[in-house]
Amino acid sequence: MKKILVTGGAGFIGSNFVRMVLTEQPDCFIVNLDKLTYAGNLENLTGFLEHKNHKFIKGDICDGELIAKIIDEYKIDAIINFAAESHVDRSISEPKIFIDTNIAGTLTLLEAARDKKLERFIQISTDEVYGELGPDGMFTEQTPLSPNSPYSASKASADHLVRAFGHTWGIKYNITRCSNNYGEYQFPEKMIPLMINNALNDKDLPVYGDGLNVRDWLYVYDHCTAIWQVFEKAPSGEIYNIGGCNEKTNLEVIGLILNRLKKPQSLIKFVKDRLGHDRRYAIDATKIMNELGWKPSVIFEEGIVKTIDWYLQNQEWLQNVVSGDYQKYYESMYENR
Ligand code: NAD
Ligand code: DAU
Repeated sequence: MKKILVTGGAGFIGSNFVRMVLTEQPDCFIVNLDKLTYAGNLENLTGFLEHKNHKFIKGDICDGELIAKIIDEYKIDAIINFAAESHVDRSISEPKIFIDTNIAGTLTLLEAARDKKLERFIQISTDEVYGELGPDGMFTEQTPLSPNSPYSASKASADHLVRAFGHTWGIKYNITRCSNNYGEYQFPEKMIPLMINNALNDKDLPVYGDGLNVRDWLYVYDHCTAIWQVFEKAPSGEIYNIGGCNEKTNLEVIGLILNRLKKPQSLIKFVKDRLGHDRRYAIDATKIMNELGWKPSVIFEEGIVKTIDWYLQNQEWLQNVVSGDYQKYYESMYENR
C-alpha cells in the first residue's frame, strides 16, 4: 500500500485528486493535510472523509514538526504538494501570505522529504510561472520562467527550490505545470464559478479589461489523472506541462455560461482591468502525452456543461461557500473527537 501525504486536499484541485485516488486506487492511503484557509472546505470531501484509506489532518505546511510527525506516524512514501494561496487578485492586494505558504511552506516540506528520504516529492505548479504569451506560440517545459504576479513569482520560487533540493541533496522530484482548471468544487472567487454564481443571482458579471485575455482551460479531473500518471511513471527530475488545448477568451467562456443558464448577455459589465493582467496562456502538453501516455478525457464544450450543471445541482454547497457557513463545518465535524 502506497502512503501519500497530500497537502491542500480540501481545496479545489486537491479534493478532486483525493476523491479520484480513493475511488480508483485501492492500494493507496492518503493523509490529507490542509490548513482550511478560506479556500479549504471539508464539504469538498463529503462521502470521503471517513474513507478507510483517508486521514484528514488540519494543519499548516509551514509546521515542520507536524510534517515530520505525520511522515513517521503514517510511514509516508511521497508528498504531493497542492497547498498554496492560489488566487492572483488576492496576491496583488496581500502578497505576504503567498510568500509564507507558497515558498516557506514548500521549503518546509522539501526539508522533511530530504530528511526522511521520501521516495518522491511532487510539486503542483502552474503555467503562470512562464509569464504571458503574445498572440502566437505555446509554453513548453523549456520556456524560461518569467512570472508576472506575486502569486506566480511565489510559485516560480517554489519550483526553483524543488529543483535545487534535487540538485543539492538528490531528492527525487517532479514538477507539474498546469493551465487553468475548471470543474466541480471550485471556489467562486475564480472566474468560471464566480460568473456562474453571479448569473444564477442575476448579478452583473465583472469582466476585467476588454475580456479578450486568453486562458487554456483544463477539466480538473483530467489534471488529476495527469498528476497520477506523473506519480506512477515519471522519472525523477522531470517537469511536465499539463493542458487541454482549449484556448478561449474570457468573453467566449462567459458567453457559453450565459447561454447554458439562459441569462442575457446584458449581464456582462466591463470593469477596471487586473493590474499586470497576463494576456494569454497556452500549454504545449506534448511531453506528458508522448512520454507518459496521458490525454484529457473531455473537450471544453462538454466539460463546461458538466460544470455548470454541477453548480446548478449543488446550490447548497455554493450557498454555504458564499455565506461563509462552510467554515463552521470543521467545528461541527470534529467537535466531539
Ligand atoms: P485552492 O485555493 O482551491 O486550494 C488550496 C488549498 O490549500 C486549500 O484547501 C487551503 O486550505 C490549503 N492551504 C492554503 N495554505 C495552506 C497551508 N499553509 N498549509 C496547509 N494547507 C494550506 O487552490 P487550487 O485551485 O485547488 O490549486 C491547488 C494547487 O494547484 C495550487 O498549488 C495552485 O498553485 C495549483 N494550480 C492551480 C490551478 C487552477 O487553475 N486552480 C492551475 C494550475 C496550478
Ligand atoms: O493558469 C493557471 C492559473 O489559473 C492558476 O495557477 C491559478 O491558481 C488560478 O487562479 C488561475 O489563474 P487566473 O488568474 O488565470 O484565473 P482567474 O479565474 O482568476 O481568472 C481567469 C481570467 O478571468 C483572467 O483573465 C482574469 C479574468 N477575470 C477573473 C475574475 C475573477 C475576470 O475577467 N473577472 C473576474 O471577476
